[in-house]
Amino acid sequence: MNSSQQAVYSDTVVRQFSIMAVVWGVVGMLVGVIIASQLAWPELNFGIPWLTYGRLRPLHTNAVIFAFGGSALFATSYYVVQRTCHTALFLPKLAAFTFWGWQLVIVAAAISLPLGFTQGKEYAELEWPIDLLIAVVWVAYAVVFFGTVGTRKVKHIYVANWFYGAFIIAVALLHIVNSAAIPAGWMKSYSAYAGAQDAMIQWWYGHNAVGFFLTAGFLGMMYYFIPKQAERPVYSYRLSIVHFWALIFTYMWAGPHHLHYTALPDWAQSLGMVFSLVLLAPSWGGMINGIMTLSGAWHKLRDDPILRFLIVSLSFYGMSTFEGPMMAIKTVNALSHYTDWTVGHVHSGALGWVGLVSMGSIYFLIPKLFGQTKMYSVKAIEVHFWLATVGIVLYIAAMWIAGVMQGLMWRAINTDGTLTYTFVESVKATYPYYVVRVAGGLLYLSGMLIMLWNVVKTATQGNAVSVAIPAPAHA
Ligand code: HEM
Ligand code: HEM
Repeated sequence: MNSSQQAVYSDTVVRQFSIMAVVWGVVGMLVGVIIASQLAWPELNFGIPWLTYGRLRPLHTNAVIFAFGGSALFATSYYVVQRTCHTALFLPKLAAFTFWGWQLVIVAAAISLPLGFTQGKEYAELEWPIDLLIAVVWVAYAVVFFGTVGTRKVKHIYVANWFYGAFIIAVALLHIVNSAAIPAGWMKSYSAYAGAQDAMIQWWYGHNAVGFFLTAGFLGMMYYFIPKQAERPVYSYRLSIVHFWALIFTYMWAGPHHLHYTALPDWAQSLGMVFSLVLLAPSWGGMINGIMTLSGAWHKLRDDPILRFLIVSLSFYGMSTFEGPMMAIKTVNALSHYTDWTVGHVHSGALGWVGLVSMGSIYFLIPKLFGQTKMYSVKAIEVHFWLATVGIVLYIAAMWIAGVMQGLMWRAINTDGTLTYTFVESVKATYPYYVVRVAGGLLYLSGMLIMLWNVVKTATQGNAVSVAIPAPAHA
């Protein structure tokens, strides 16, 4: 127990979000495995409307991105901002509201999506009353985060906070602009935009959801947890600042690469392509900065599975941010678009980068939050790492082969100009790869179940501890 006069960090909300990240990870990935199985064996929807693929797919994307990824981001940002600012959270009660509010959003999504309520915008499906709740929770999050930065006891603002801060501001902007709609009933609305503008705003949102929700926030994790776990300073602080500004500036313009060969004006498509190519540089700058933080301590990778999660996540980050710019080149996109190549790209980023970096960071956090020196079973972290890695490789290799095959089959023509293959022939040819994806997904999910067991064991063995805030180094 802590003496009552000593100031302590507000870690209850960090504990809650960390545990829920793991729980929602299991749920979201389970739904992922179900929809992957439905693509291989469509009868698995059992003829029940709310179990059909079209309703479960957005449930999967919302659960993994916003429930799993979101909870991991809330947990780590609240932890990191306190530790790097040497102060407790600003307005802890408001922080508690963000926890319960965010869980309410998730439950509302889990009910409304299977029932078929949707705005039909990818990653922004939720209907307007839920959108309003998201906006309120998000503004509260911004107040807590920036309030904590504003009341910090150290002069410097560590770079991880810059990334978390940009993620919070950008997501507020994206969500509010893209969700503008005219309500036509409690669970029905029409977009405030029309036609090509609607499409452009949606993919400005969609791409920056990748750039800020699935990237900038997780880079915040990288800049805190890799140096901590490796016990080394970040490789180049100067590079981290260049990385920050270059990434933030470039992402905003790359959205049109989702709309190649559509009604969007050609110049806008080309602009999107060029900015996507430029994006390779800051992305790789960041990856190199993270990986090189290990220089002089490479041996730690051999026996530290948490560090392995963190560093391998960066390899997948590097891979998907090389692949993305290539796919943004119009002629490459002509082959990849609409195929499973895109889905492979998504999951090398999602499973490899977002998933592994979150898992590594949560493994770092849990023992500290429950007064333990390490996780209940380090061996289980090791097993999780290999299950996840093999699962990712099976998933993305299957989708790459399937995707390129589909693209080539769809464009193959006979000498008389007729199509060589019917569409259904390409579907049949894809079947074995869908089965391999199910196997990869099952491995990834089983790793997550092991994590849940390990987290519960660690939490129940220890207890929720209060950590004292260090006194200021100098007056
Ligand atoms: C067990 C793990 C997972 C499995 C088996 C899985 C499976 C799937 C399947 C079958 C789809 C639909 C693909 C299609 O429409 O053709 C999908 C879409 C998607 N998943 Fe996952 N997923 C998993 C984990 C994740 C995670 C952890 C994330 C994010 C952090 C994620 C993000 C997405 C996204 C963004 C899409 C939409 C892709 C697009 O529109 O191109 N998934 N997933
Ligand atoms: C330099 C960085 C990146 C660039 C330039 C890029 C580019 C692209 C391109 C060109 C597409 C295909 C668009 C289409 O044909 O429809 C795409 C799709 C996608 N990418 Fe990336 N990507 C990058 C990094 C990432 C990362 C790190 C992630 C995940 C963490 C990610 C997640 C996605 C998602 C979710 C989609 C599917 C969107 C949809 O259609 O639903 N990307 N990306």
